[in-house]
Amino acid sequence: MEKMNGQSGDIVADNIDQLKSLFPEAFTEDKVNFDVLKQLLGGAVDEREEKYGLNWHGKKAARQIALSLSTGTLRPCPEESVNWDTTQNLMLEGDNLEVLKLLQKPYTGKVKMIYIDPPYNKGKDFVYPDDFRDNIKNYQMLTGQVEGDGRKITSNTEASGRFHTDWLNMMYPRLKLARNLLREDGVIFISIDDDEVTNLKAMCSEVFGEENFITSLIWEKGRKNDAKLISVGHEYILAFAKNKSFFAVNKIKWREVKPGAKEILDEYLRLRKSYGANNAEVEIGIKKFYESLPKNDPSKKHSRYNKVDDKGVWRDDNMSWPGGGGPTYDVIHPTTAEKCAVPEGGWRYGTLEKMEEMIKLGKVIFRDDHTESPIRKTYLLEVDNDFDDEIEDSGLEEDSDDLPIQVAGSYFYRSALQASNELNALFGNKVFNNPKDHEVIARWISYINTSTGDIVMDFFAGSGTTGHAVLHQNAIDQKSIKFILVQLPEPIDPKAKGAKPAISFLEKNQKPVNIAEITKERLRRTVKKIKDENPLFAGDLGFRVFKLDSSNIRTWDPDRDNLEQTLLDNLEHIKPGRSESDILYELLLKLGLDLCVPIETRTVAGKNVQAIGAGVLLTCLTESITRDEVESMALGIIAWHKELAPAGDTTCVFRDSAFADDVAKSNLSAILFQHGIENVRSL
Ligand SMILES: C[S@@+](CC[C@H](N)C(=O)[O-])C[C@H]1O[C@@H](n2cnc3c(N)ncnc32)[C@H](O)[C@@H]1O
Repeated sequence: MEKMNGQSGDIVADNIDQLKSLFPEAFTEDKVNFDVLKQLLGGAVDEREEKYGLNWHGKKAARQIALSLSTGTLRPCPEESVNWDTTQNLMLEGDNLEVLKLLQKPYTGKVKMIYIDPPYNKGKDFVYPDDFRDNIKNYQMLTGQVEGDGRKITSNTEASGRFHTDWLNMMYPRLKLARNLLREDGVIFISIDDDEVTNLKAMCSEVFGEENFITSLIWEKGRKNDAKLISVGHEYILAFAKNKSFFAVNKIKWREVKPGAKEILDEYLRLRKSYGANNAEVEIGIKKFYESLPKNDPSKKHSRYNKVDDKGVWRDDNMSWPGGGGPTYDVIHPTTAEKCAVPEGGWRYGTLEKMEEMIKLGKVIFRDDHTESPIRKTYLLEVDNDFDDEIEDSGLEEDSDDLPIQVAGSYFYRSALQASNELNALFGNKVFNNPKDHEVIARWISYINTSTGDIVMDFFAGSGTTGHAVLHQNAIDQKSIKFILVQLPEPIDPKAKGAKPAISFLEKNQKPVNIAEITKERLRRTVKKIKDENPLFAGDLGFRVFKLDSSNIRTWDPDRDNLEQTLLDNLEHIKPGRSESDILYELLLKLGLDLCVPIETRTVAGKNVQAIGAGVLLTCLTESITRDEVESMALGIIAWHKELAPAGDTTCVFRDSAFADDVAKSNLSAILFQHGIENVRSL
């Protein structure tokens, strides 16, 4: 029976495997032969001493940090979760570096979109100081979970002498690990402002590849008039693809429904219902509709679409070739029978045949005579002219594929106040400074063609805006996109600006005073709000909470002053105080299974046995199995395994210390082996 250890997936080993499969000849006795590798890579090897790229002190160590294994685990907290049994969403409380490491095995290549809003390094931000030696202990000390040697959460000040260095060292390993999680069609969006945008872009170009840069979006948030020189009212969102060429090869396009268009079409259909085929009345109604809208309503932008015919709402459009240089064939005026004036840029339609087809379809409007060129009808959306069917089918109202679409631009406006006001309203007080806007994030989630089952992740979750965005968009689109949030239980500094309301809110609710508590509470309130507003929505309105902790499995870390006690302690591999459920979820992580995978429990020979992922993993983590119980337990497991008939190999895991003796252990293993369960392990 093979023993399992308490470490996360080995990234270095995975890298070596990948290299080996590409260049087997560059390996001799399991070691890389660099001379051969260099030869195989030809001119791509840069041997110059000075190299182009972003460098800073500690970069090598930061790279190493991303490669080192985590000795932590994620412990389930159903009591802090919502709809634990059914949800597929995750809120992971802990330092994101360790959590990202733990997620490597189960979530590599599975995440469709990552949005992060890391600390902008403004001189007052907390920038997480990783500890190469024992990052889990470091985490516990920083977050006040164990007594520390004076390690405290402090902000990264400009006077520190390592201002940019510390920030870069923090970001680099996290981005490297995040990249592994993205799918081939995955994208990462990173919010940042002027202070670190240059460094961040250079770093991302290295981590994701320059060729995968999509753009830096500019978010205009409103200006303040107290600036000395220029009021900076914008920030950036850098967008990098995991593999931009994948989009090209698969002809993937990103488009969105024109904001405000659906409302106009709804109004058109409503007016049709009232006025039937009377276009003039419908047109009057549409014009009135535009007039009734407030100034910045998105539908108002389309008010040029103010004419109506059987096919829908349309506007006059130019008949000339975009940019000029179009064809100049003869178009005869239907009344004067003379050649119409050709527009300055040539005709909009490439051939006379196409022009004639459009004339036949009624999409070309001739002027009174031939001296002026005709105009083109452009519809907001062309609808079927059988109005009754249109309204009855009402496909238009439901199906966004029918709505006019547009490509997004690289800059947009959204007041920063909107998000703050909404979050304050949700809590009845200001509990978090500068939250991002869930509707903005929801727009990008929807824009990149995210669909049911896809995962959206945010590992600097803050108040949980990304989780809110996913829940909000799911309710609109009736989808089930999943989220994974990671947030540090960062103690809230009572001296920090605006900390008081958050602290008194948490104290009043008898919660620990840290930011992760705000994240969870935001999610709970959002779930409730969405449920109240959409009582018929049957999608996922829950989340599972897990917390970062040291592994449940003891590592060999002898106390040199008390070796005897260490030996005795190590007879039991599981740490005291850890539950069956703790161990089970650690197993899922180690074996690379999703933290929301379905788990079925049955009693076999009087003990709890779990079947995970329809029998891919079978576990029995009971504390004792006697010799007499071995046979009935093995046979019970075999019967259940047969019933489940899993597609692949099954791994069966027991607690090592549960076995009365080695005979019991080897007997159980042998019976299972005989019946096709060859992968039997102990903890
Ligand atoms: C700028 S805020 C994100 C705000 C968020 N976008 C929102 O709308 O509420 C950055 C967050 O990252 C968290 N954070 C910083 N270092 C972290 C780490 N090592 N692991 C997890 N979270 C961290 C901070 O506690 C902070 O809440």
